Amino acid sequence: MNLLIIGAGGREHAIGKKLSQSPIVEKIYCAPGNPGMKKDGIQLVDIKETDHQELIDFAKKMAITWTFVGPEIPLLNGIVDDFKKAGLKIFGPTKVAALIEGSKSFAKELMERFHIPTAESKTFTDYSKAKQYIETKGAPIVIKADGLAAGKGVVVAKTLEEALKAAYDMLEKDRFGKSGRMIVIEEFLAGEEFSLLAFVNGTAVYPMVISQDHKCVYDGDKGPNTGGMGAYSPVPQISEKIVEIGVKQILEPVAKGMVEMNRSFTGVLYAGLIATADGPKVIEFNARFGDPETQVILPRLKSDFAQVISDLLENKAVELTWEKEGYHVGVVVAAEGYPDKYLTGMRLPEFLEEEVTVYYAGVKENNGNLVGDGGRIYLVEAFGRTLEEAREKVYGVLQTKNTVQTFYRKDIGGKAMKGLAEDH
Ligand code: AMP
Ligand code: GLY
Repeated sequence: MNLLIIGAGGREHAIGKKLSQSPIVEKIYCAPGNPGMKKDGIQLVDIKETDHQELIDFAKKMAITWTFVGPEIPLLNGIVDDFKKAGLKIFGPTKVAALIEGSKSFAKELMERFHIPTAESKTFTDYSKAKQYIETKGAPIVIKADGLAAGKGVVVAKTLEEALKAAYDMLEKDRFGKSGRMIVIEEFLAGEEFSLLAFVNGTAVYPMVISQDHKCVYDGDKGPNTGGMGAYSPVPQISEKIVEIGVKQILEPVAKGMVEMNRSFTGVLYAGLIATADGPKVIEFNARFGDPETQVILPRLKSDFAQVISDLLENKAVELTWEKEGYHVGVVVAAEGYPDKYLTGMRLPEFLEEEVTVYYAGVKENNGNLVGDGGRIYLVEAFGRTLEEAREKVYGVLQTKNTVQTFYRKDIGGKAMKGLAEDH
């Protein structure tokens, strides 16, 4: 079969690479994709992810068996609804189901109604009321823009001043435009963070292996939040018991709740969780695969990925098999300046990919070379029998490369290393 992926980042590269390993797949197209994907046989299609009609025409013309949607924006624009209306198969939630990611206040409402453990919170549009609430609750406290903000609309405020400034900037100064005219103010949850994703089809939930992202831009979780600077899987300091509670008390009731609310969800449901002293609690939901989590999760999937999606689209039950031994680590290389205004056009090093796999994101071609063209440029991923071995492979290779005008975090997987050392 021929498949179409929508999106352009490292996540879509990892999805495409995994699908290409399936014996039932002939061709993989990615719209718009990026030129770094070509090394893995993915064919680029010059159509924007927001051009639904053009994408539909392409899928029909090329006899695409089904389409996989990577990013949140087309999902929230209703691409799944549009493809279905055109009689095409597509994997992802409908517009009303994707709202679990698109509106933090909707996600909170859902969690309240179905008793899903999450941080205590309140929604505001009025600054003076928000200010009053912040002053009553005190710091640390978390301020979130209600709508999409590419992972950057969250301020974990350590002081009252910081919290008030964040709320003021979002509500009064339009810091995130429309996305921030409504804010959610949330209790700060202390504990280790992890990402629990699952394939969901109505009430059926098929959990994936867990991973841990690194959202802050600098080592030691310093600096502003980004889309994610690196990830690893598994996460040894999070016990199986905690994951099981996450599946039973969070993912399964959410899937059921969405059906009850007439927003039945088909696609990848992503729960961002914090393992608190009272068990795992939700800090966010996404209606799609995470980036960079996908780049360390999918390499661990042993089942035929294309078959899994085909079966889900036919409402068949699936069984997922995962690699049990070893670790995957992925480190993002970003452009100097990211997550603010960043440099572009720098020439990127070449990789042999014997020890590591490279997933490209913000790149373009210039005279036959790949050059930087986005905030997060590429991710280097490796497998190791131990976490240490996987980290050594990634960092060992990166150290030999010219990474001028770019930077990367040197401590991806560091928290787990600390945990592992303490165990011994
Ligand atoms: P979000 O986009 O909601 O995942 O938030 C971005 C980051 O802010 C998360 O990955 C956490 O590191 C942090 N964060 C969000 N909400 C909370 C919370 N209630 N308590 C502590 N940290 C949080
Ligand atoms: N890595 C976080 C996200 O994809 O939202």
